[in-house]
Amino acid sequence: MATRVLVCLLVAFILIGDSLAVTLSSKLIHRFSDEAKAFRVSRNGEPPGSWPRWRSMEYYQLLASSDLQLQKMKLGPQYQLLFPSEGSKTMSFGNDFGWLHYMWIDIGTPNISFLVALDTGSDLLWVPCDCIQCAPLSAGYYNSLDRDLSEYRPSESSTSKHVNCSHELCELGPNCKSLKQPCPYIVNYYSENTSSSGLLVEDILYLASSNDHTSKNLVHAPVIIGCGRKQSGGYLDGVAPDGLLGLGLGDISVPSFLAKAGLIRNSFSMCFNEDDSGRIFFGDQGFATQQSTPFLPLDGKYITYMVGVQSCCIGNSCLKQTSFQAQIDSGTSFTFLPDEVYKKVTAEFERQVNSTRLSTKGFLWDYCYEASSERLLSIPSVVLMFAPNNSFVVRNPTFLFYDNQGVSRFCLAIQRAEGNFGIIGQNFMMGYRIVFDRENLKLGWSRSNCQDLSDGKAMPLTPPAHDRPENPLPTNEQQSTPTGRAVAPAVAGRAPSKPSSASPLLSAPHFLRMRLLPLLLLICLFLSAI
Ligand SMILES: *[C@@H]1O[C@H](CO)[C@@H](O)[C@H](O)[C@H]1NC(C)=O
Ligand SMILES: *[C@@H]1O[C@H](CO)[C@@H](O)[C@H](O)[C@H]1NC(C)=O
Ligand SMILES: *[C@@H]1O[C@H](CO)[C@@H](O)[C@H](O)[C@H]1NC(C)=O
Ligand SMILES: *[C@@H]1O[C@H](CO)[C@@H](O)[C@H](O)[C@H]1NC(C)=O
Ligand SMILES: *[C@@H]1O[C@H](CO)[C@@H](O)[C@H](O)[C@H]1NC(C)=O
Repeated sequence: MATRVLVCLLVAFILIGDSLAVTLSSKLIHRFSDEAKAFRVSRNGEPPGSWPRWRSMEYYQLLASSDLQLQKMKLGPQYQLLFPSEGSKTMSFGNDFGWLHYMWIDIGTPNISFLVALDTGSDLLWVPCDCIQCAPLSAGYYNSLDRDLSEYRPSESSTSKHVNCSHELCELGPNCKSLKQPCPYIVNYYSENTSSSGLLVEDILYLASSNDHTSKNLVHAPVIIGCGRKQSGGYLDGVAPDGLLGLGLGDISVPSFLAKAGLIRNSFSMCFNEDDSGRIFFGDQGFATQQSTPFLPLDGKYITYMVGVQSCCIGNSCLKQTSFQAQIDSGTSFTFLPDEVYKKVTAEFERQVNSTRLSTKGFLWDYCYEASSERLLSIPSVVLMFAPNNSFVVRNPTFLFYDNQGVSRFCLAIQRAEGNFGIIGQNFMMGYRIVFDRENLKLGWSRSNCQDLSDGKAMPLTPPAHDRPENPLPTNEQQSTPTGRAVAPAVAGRAPSKPSSASPLLSAPHFLRMRLLPLLLLICLFLSAI
């Protein structure tokens, strides 16, 4: 779900009142459009041309160099890692919350906790707030929760501040009737009809740092938060009921605020473990020896975490003409490949796998097989090759279904994308410390068990033995394991596992609805080209 967003703003003023009401389809304002730029200039009195092109390479270099200045001023000799005040731990609840990864954050004074979904595919942090239409928040409604979810009320937080329409991060500013009024936002995600809208506010996000092992320092970071008054689609239906943390490249994202304030290096890492736990660290640039690949600009702009896959390898066979660009999106449950690549990859997988294919008409995935424990040994590996010569061995290319005897069937957990771009979703990120190095504009990765990096020890420059980068080509050992670790049993327990007479894989989990609408991405690209 959860991709582009503030990049493609559909201008629709639900909250601002009738005079501003614009029909949903009447207008698309891109935040880098001339219109938005003109507004920015007139508002801030910036002469046109005094800044590098928004999100051009120069823009990011300028940003990085000013970040570095700040860091030199404020940071000690040792770079600090920040994590939410409730801890660096992230968690996933499987099908319950759409297979995304979540963490607790504290906001406001007095502070309130929110269980937010982690989304590298969007920028804004929003939480349910002064609700008109929000997901149910009581614990009883969900299987996995032991406490009620909260609703944010800016009027009850002594540190909350209005963000008015003249704020430089108010993207809908050009449509406001008056610059004094609170800034509205609306974010549309790829999943059909999925959106969040409301007003922007500024408040404190509490983070912790641990430079030395004796104490944890609390860091008060002012950030912009979407007061999400009205959610729709997937957000009313089990995905991100308590808000979403956008981790994208946009200036409004939490990592951008933290880096701009000089609190961290402009980078963060996420690690998702196979047991549903994980870690997030702001400021983490990873190991010097990790593998990496540059982020790719779209029309000269760094809008999303886009990377270039050179080829896909199944087993020991690297397929010709399987290069594509893909967005690294933790907010997408399962990976999508562009059609041509999808066909080649699935055909080769089908050729190498020694199991009986199941009919999966109408199911999320097309390539599903009967499994028995010994056959699991022979699931072909899936490896993505990145420039320059770096390999990414997908730990869990399949999704396992369990019955009383153990794994009963498995599916290649890849879907067909309708556009030219792929999306590398959370399932492919599993088992790696993935570094979103925004300062150097590259993605880094190293094998990891998601250990705690905040224990005060100086960060090592090279990985311990088990964290070493992968060999460029897959080995037998790296192929899927027979132990069923591809999906932890606890997760699989929540997976649809009961066969039905009509179809062996009939149950439709939440994520079925989390399909992307590639059209929107095309609109973004189109708009950013003008
Ligand atoms: C949040 O509030 C509680 C009590 O109201 C306090 O004990 C705790 O330290 C606060 N947490 C943060 C991060 O300020
Ligand atoms: C908008 O908010 C800023 C900061 O809070 C304030 O300085 C400014 O005067 C406000 N602008 C208008 C037009 O109210
Ligand atoms: C999206 O909303 C439209 C209009 O309300 C509706 O017709 C359509 O069925 C919805 N799509 C989904 C997938 O819910
Ligand atoms: C499938 O079976 C054939 C013949 O039994 C064997 O040569 C091949 O290695 C098997 N494939 C895998 C991926 O194990
Ligand atoms: C990639 O690796 C191959 C084989 O190891 C080598 O021949 C080639 O020069 C490498 N390419 C780059 C760009 O490093």
